[in-house]
Amino acid sequence: MIEKIHHIGVAVRSLDEALKFYSETLGLPVQASATVEEQGVKAALLTIGGSEIELLEPLSPESPVGRFLERKGEGLHHICFQTPDVAAELEGLKAKGVELIDQQPRRGLAGMICFLHPKASRGVLVELATPVVS
Ligand code: CO
Repeated sequence: MIEKIHHIGVAVRSLDEALKFYSETLGLPVQASATVEEQGVKAALLTIGGSEIELLEPLSPESPVGRFLERKGEGLHHICFQTPDVAAELEGLKAKGVELIDQQPRRGLAGMICFLHPKASRGVLVELATPVVS
């Protein structure tokens, strides 16, 4: 079950520069920030009502976000849907023949996450996430 839009991912060249706008100018609070080595990004999540904005700075030009920036420049990168059970959701989509990037959920800034292939969703990179309740 998809519950809501958890966050919108934005690819940026510099997290610090991006935070000047999203945090300082707009006043959105930074809810979490971390370097996620497995995904090759330095990321921050900012709260916007019941959803979030995720800013992603690549750690290297060869990382997926680095290659995205090279091809398309800064801007919208992905949309993330919240689900109470990312593993079950992923299995259900797999059974329906949906093209996936991740075959298994993995840890991300937003909790346990996985990515679907943009071919499945008409060109939009879709992430699924089950937030970790702390
Ligand atoms: Co995300």
